[in-house]
Amino acid sequence: MQILFIYFMISSEIYWFPLSIEMAQEEGSSSVSSSPLQMFSMMSLSPGLGSPYPWLREMKSEERGLCLIHLLVVCANHVSSGSIENANVSLEYISHLASPVGDTMQRIAAYFTEALADRVLKGWPGLHKALNSTKITCVADEILVHKLFFEFCPFLKLSYVITNQAILETMEEEKVVHIIDLNSFEPTQWVTLLQALSARPQGPPHLRITGIHEQKEVLDQMAHRLNAEAEKLDVPFQFHPVVCRLENLDTESLRVKTGEAVAISSVLQLHTLLAVDDEMLQNKTANAAHLQRVLQMNTHTLGEFLESPDSASSSPKFSASSHKMISFLNALWGLSPKLMVVTEQESNHNGLSLMDRIMEALNFYAALFDCLESTVPRASIERQKIEKMLFGEEIRNIIACEGVERKKRHEKLDKWISRLELAGFGKVPFSYHVMLQARRLLQSYNYHGYKIKEENGCFMICWQDQPLFSVSAWRFRQYR
Ligand SMILES: *[C@@H]1O[C@H](CO)[C@@H](O)[C@H](O)[C@H]1NC(C)=O
Ligand SMILES: *[C@@H]1O[C@H](CO)[C@@H](O)[C@H](O)[C@H]1NC(C)=O
Ligand SMILES: *[C@@H]1O[C@H](CO)[C@@H](O)[C@H](O)[C@H]1NC(C)=O
Repeated sequence: MQILFIYFMISSEIYWFPLSIEMAQEEGSSSVSSSPLQMFSMMSLSPGLGSPYPWLREMKSEERGLCLIHLLVVCANHVSSGSIENANVSLEYISHLASPVGDTMQRIAAYFTEALADRVLKGWPGLHKALNSTKITCVADEILVHKLFFEFCPFLKLSYVITNQAILETMEEEKVVHIIDLNSFEPTQWVTLLQALSARPQGPPHLRITGIHEQKEVLDQMAHRLNAEAEKLDVPFQFHPVVCRLENLDTESLRVKTGEAVAISSVLQLHTLLAVDDEMLQNKTANAAHLQRVLQMNTHTLGEFLESPDSASSSPKFSASSHKMISFLNALWGLSPKLMVVTEQESNHNGLSLMDRIMEALNFYAALFDCLESTVPRASIERQKIEKMLFGEEIRNIIACEGVERKKRHEKLDKWISRLELAGFGKVPFSYHVMLQARRLLQSYNYHGYKIKEENGCFMICWQDQPLFSVSAWRFRQYR
């Protein structure tokens, strides 16, 4: 029997929730029981008591929270072992407790159950497609919800401040600077940089920003805003839009010229390139063929290839980083960047086992939902939008999608460090001044509960003591 402690924060209070997981022989069929919660178990929730369970209304938030975690884990086990009838029963129980407008755990439960049900339904492609047939994916909404996330939580602001300060310090002596923004949708970051550059004692450099985004309109707006600001500040400036999905980016289109000092800004983007056809990679035949091909390549690529996305998992090591990631990092390396700042989610949502991913996601998103709970009223429509369209969609992607569809393959900093080092980048520790700027931002906005910690010369942005986002700085190394 393996005892697993999950660390949850519900309404800023910390709960240690002990779960005893009895691992069965076969993977995915582990059963979960938790002794302190026996009273909430299936017996007391049995429909025999009669719907709608009058005692549920009297349940306090913490009790309900613990009960929901328990039920979610039970349900996740049923889904991952393919036991659909049992999953149906636990989803039914959870539906009486979960709510997208309730407290933190009720909201989390609503999105996790939706994702779990979505995964089950994918087993019936006809049903799944019919339920999805009128869904409209609206890019304007996606942009809106990212802007709301930028406004309501300090994470993106911190990432931008840290990135900008590192750029200013690295480019202090440079006269021609080229910044490549891998996800160009928020002009505020670059407006602030333009202002800082125009105040440089030695005068501003010639600045060129290449913005990458799949929507032309988004880049048009960026260009408009940044050109106006640069003109006002009298900074020699050019905005170069590249309409493209990151995975299809051809670095030739970035038009990097000799003599330019290049800086790359990547905010929550790199992990999307890890999306691989798991099924093919898990296919032993395919693995053998792959390995054979890799053995004919150089050792650097082999090392990268053998690096597992989930060291805790006992699954074959061959699933590794995708070739897409390797070639993308190689292409960036080829631009000889003076600086590359990478912000990523600090969680492992790229495990091969569904249960691992669900437990990691519960831990990570519980903290994110709690950030909103601590600052935004429950009835806020904006909050519901962030939860549904941003966090909810990410949870759904992590749980319900597989293969190339599964893009939210967040990985922890240690993985990024070894991957980027293998690709020929050297880590650049942030200066004390960068830390100072970040702390100042937290103070000026009166953000409580957030912390910035230094780890190996990189930064962790934390909610309470839980690291949620990592920011690391890199530069081109001559010899790989
Ligand atoms: C699903 O669960 C509910 C509630 O326990 C039950 O009434 C229903 O019969 C189940 N459906 C199937 C198809 O098993
Ligand atoms: C659901 O519908 C949207 C919009 O039509 C589409 O882009 C998406 O691929 C569909 N998802 C699935 C899993 O069929
Ligand atoms: C897996 O291997 C089998 C046996 O060689 C092959 O028929 C099948 O096409 C492979 N599947 C994939 C997804 O590569």
